[in-house]
Amino acid sequence: MRILMIAGNWKMNTTVSEAVKLVNEMRQGLDEIANVDKVVCPPFVSLAAVKEIIKGSSIKLGAQNLYFEEKGAYTGEISPLMLADLCEYVIIGHSERRQYFHEAGDIVNKKVRAALKVELKPILCVGERLEENEAGRTEEVVAEQLRSSLAGIDSLGDLTIAYEPIWAIGTGRAATGRWADETIGFIRRSITKLYTESVAQGIRILYGGSVTADNATEFMEQPEIDGALVGGASLKAEQFLSIIKQTSEARGRLSS
Ligand code: PGA
Repeated sequence: MRILMIAGNWKMNTTVSEAVKLVNEMRQGLDEIANVDKVVCPPFVSLAAVKEIIKGSSIKLGAQNLYFEEKGAYTGEISPLMLADLCEYVIIGHSERRQYFHEAGDIVNKKVRAALKVELKPILCVGERLEENEAGRTEEVVAEQLRSSLAGIDSLGDLTIAYEPIWAIGTGRAATGRWADETIGFIRRSITKLYTESVAQGIRILYGGSVTADNATEFMEQPEIDGALVGGASLKAEQFLSIIKQTSEARGRLSS
């Protein structure tokens, strides 16, 4: 059975001291929950400080982005090697990167390759816009994002996929558990087509988009959903902890 994962994407929030405070508030509660992978993704500048605080705990660390070149004259960018030294996971292809920084399929593809090369575990985000959803094009859009992001990549390593419908991100308008489950089922079938059934069965696929302590159970009880990528609610220790507790309980029910 796949181990569920809850990853908190802090986005461009928290100063270093706020990040330290937040992770200190979460540390003990998160550490007590054993059957869920718990990942926090603070901004780059706080990675080292957060790493120090979670040392010795079961909490894992992720970055929110990376650049695909190894090193050199790329002012302001962060390389895969720099991150590999600091953290285990990296979010790639988030819709905010696609939308505001024009990261199209080939850039996402290079980033996934670069992460895998240094054994960083990518959390690859896919998802459709509202107009695409309303036009019934979700499957087509998501299939194309998967195809281009993974083109030419033979081995996915420990890659996780996050299905994040753009209309649900930061809007308070989450998808329904059923919709997310069906789309994630489609994503899994697409991975079977691109790779093999056993790769598809082994890969974790998360839901993301307005997950909160009030709706987490609805998602976590779905058989295809392997966890969540949480934005806003990951900035509040109590909410994030509640989401993880609900995930742990739902997994307990699903496996019994
Ligand atoms: P949200 O963000 O939970 O605030 O909707 C999710 C994400 O963008 O990963």
